[in-house]
Amino acid sequence: MSERGALSLPPRRYSKLWLAFARTVERTAAGLGGRVFYRRWFLGPGRFRVREEVARVKALPIGLHGFCIVQLSDLHGGRFMGEGDLKHVIAAVLEQRPDVVVLTGDYITSRWQEVLGLMSELRKLEAPYGVFAIFGNHDYRGRNEHRIAELFRDAGIVVLRNQSVRIDTGNGTLGLVGLEDLEEAKLVDELSARAAVRPEDVEVVLCHNPNMAEELARPQCAAVLSGHTHGNQIDLPGFRHLGPEHAGERRQFGATAAITNVGLGVIGLPLRIGAPAEIVRLTLVAESV
Ligand SMILES: [Fe+2]
Ligand SMILES: [Fe+2]
Repeated sequence: MSERGALSLPPRRYSKLWLAFARTVERTAAGLGGRVFYRRWFLGPGRFRVREEVARVKALPIGLHGFCIVQLSDLHGGRFMGEGDLKHVIAAVLEQRPDVVVLTGDYITSRWQEVLGLMSELRKLEAPYGVFAIFGNHDYRGRNEHRIAELFRDAGIVVLRNQSVRIDTGNGTLGLVGLEDLEEAKLVDELSARAAVRPEDVEVVLCHNPNMAEELARPQCAAVLSGHTHGNQIDLPGFRHLGPEHAGERRQFGATAAITNVGLGVIGLPLRIGAPAEIVRLTLVAESV
């Protein structure tokens, strides 16, 4: 933490040679039909998973018993994800009858326009208490994240940028906090983001990168929901050390469950091994005394 309330992690940068190699691999895979392959094998019915998670909360108000949050992450519009590819995923989200839907970043791969192909499906998302989103590191490419925010707003998706909303069920309030990305945002202001949350609220924090979940944990925070790691995407023992930390993990810091969503899209290759695409269904339940 560099100053009071400000969080950050050093952004990762790659050499020009590595980026040229990665782009060539991506272009070749796309030319060989990578997008159709990915949609059929990883996003079709029965090909992705609905991961059930439960957060046990002390003295949970009755209105929040069984409150259901469905989380989507790392869609990565681009060469391997476009128009219509999320059809079955969005249907599965709606089937869960969530109280709230949250999207935890990385809507694009390299250019903001890559989100355009996703909008017809994302527009279908609905939930009684709303659909909310935060940005991931990829979404700041070219500093055009405001364009994604405008598209989301038109689709009824509220982007939380170091902000929170209080969701009043009539008998208990959920404070939903959305942070900017720890690596690429100009400022991640935790204090401002949490300012509206009251001490009696049950809090859930959205933070794309899972690496500071422990710092975000506090007694009233039931969960920190992240993405970013893709579960290593190609999760083979010899390669795990190359991937980001906390891939697909669930960790517990006191009262706070830190849940890392494995995501829906891909980077580099249209392939997942040992890390199937997923949506996370988080249910709040009262901790039995
Ligand atoms: Fe990602
Ligand atoms: Fe990311």
